[in-house]
Amino acid sequence: MRIVLGVGGGIAAYKAASLLRLFTEAGHDVSVVPTESSKQFVGVATWEALSGNPVSSSVFDEVEKVNHVRLGHEADLIVVAPATADLLARAATGQANDLLTNTLLMARGPVVFAPAMHTEMWAHPATAANVATLRSRGAVVLEPGIGRLTGKDTGPGRLPEPDEIFTAALAAVDTADPAADSPAAAPGALAGTTVTITAGGTREPLDPVRFLGNRSSGKQGTALAEAAMAAGARVRLIAAHMDVPAPSGVELVRVETALELRAAAHAASGDSDVVIMAAAVADFRPSQVVETKIKKRDDEADPVITLVRNPDILQELVRARDAAGTGTPKLIVGFAAETGDATSDVLEYGRKKLARKGCDLLVLNRVGKSLVFGQDDTEVRILSPADSAEDAGESAAGTKAEVSARIISRISAELATRSA
Ligand SMILES: Cc1cc2nc3c(=O)[nH]c(=O)nc-3n(C[C@H](O)[C@H](O)[C@H](O)COP(=O)(O)O)c2cc1C
Repeated sequence: MRIVLGVGGGIAAYKAASLLRLFTEAGHDVSVVPTESSKQFVGVATWEALSGNPVSSSVFDEVEKVNHVRLGHEADLIVVAPATADLLARAATGQANDLLTNTLLMARGPVVFAPAMHTEMWAHPATAANVATLRSRGAVVLEPGIGRLTGKDTGPGRLPEPDEIFTAALAAVDTADPAADSPAAAPGALAGTTVTITAGGTREPLDPVRFLGNRSSGKQGTALAEAAMAAGARVRLIAAHMDVPAPSGVELVRVETALELRAAAHAASGDSDVVIMAAAVADFRPSQVVETKIKKRDDEADPVITLVRNPDILQELVRARDAAGTGTPKLIVGFAAETGDATSDVLEYGRKKLARKGCDLLVLNRVGKSLVFGQDDTEVRILSPADSAEDAGESAAGTKAEVSARIISRISAELATRSA
């Protein structure tokens, strides 16, 4: 793949060298386009030596090659890291005053910005507006990390780690690739929308050290978050316990229990176009949480745990939307993990669940100890209330990333029909 790596004038420019290495080691051909001011931080020799390609910042170098046209046309992917406040502003306003911004205007493939700046600059309404503009045009703008900044200060504004940028950039290409096995949503298909996704498994405390949990790894929810971001959405991830890190670029809300997840989901649904309930939420919780650790005593009978039912959050969200009459969220998507049993098969359970919950789409997968939970591959059926009784729904199989791309594609198609 041909990649243009744009480098802005921030301290984090040195980290772009690690990102460049990740791309070249994965076999990609990278042309680095540093801005003039970025050369105060990292010199051209570093980029030329590491990329093996000539490096320029100006449209007036090698004029006969018309580099800005060539680079923009040939790039399968443009990644800007670090994207400074200045670069975001220049890109958002369509300026073309150096080689990088000219190249950005020529690009027709996916563009990923990895911002880095002081918290005040990131939070400034001007920067926020530029980010919103870029996202509305289909660019992926990652959320910066939170942590130590250039000086002694800490806060949001850190460049996401190179491996996170690498993963997000490749996800943007997968999602944009019309030839991919799982047709993905077009870049920008979800631009201007807010998508809330729940992920992971809840933990229901028994006492301060023990809990009832489940095998959910969070891989499906995080893959959905990446696919939705690649389609241009602002993504809020309500994360219960996950074995995988939350993807960079999401607005992260951490929760532990079903009741916490319920509160977060209700709070989030007010400004969400889409809510995807991919978390494994405990159906039951211990009726009592013991305040001190339950002790093993020889003179006492073994403890008995009684459970109470947790609220049905998916059904509640649908009912709350109906009661409010606002039509927000436009789409509520449920997930069902079913094992099937002697009396009903998985599909039948799925159809019944869809009818009972009243959601707009239900993603159904068959689970077992080694099926789905924690695995990288999955197979799902996407059920809709519009399906006929014989319809088995749209099926999708592959890695969780591929299946997520398909689900997000279906969601963007459903949104388009609703607003048509
Ligand atoms: C030491 C130093 C560190 C800087 N770090 C950042 C930064 O992390 N993010 C940012 O947006 N600007 C930063 N700036 C300011 C930019 O260099 C300045 O806005 C410049 O015009 C950016 O231009 P460019 O990225 O379009 O090349 C820094 C400036 C200095 C002197």
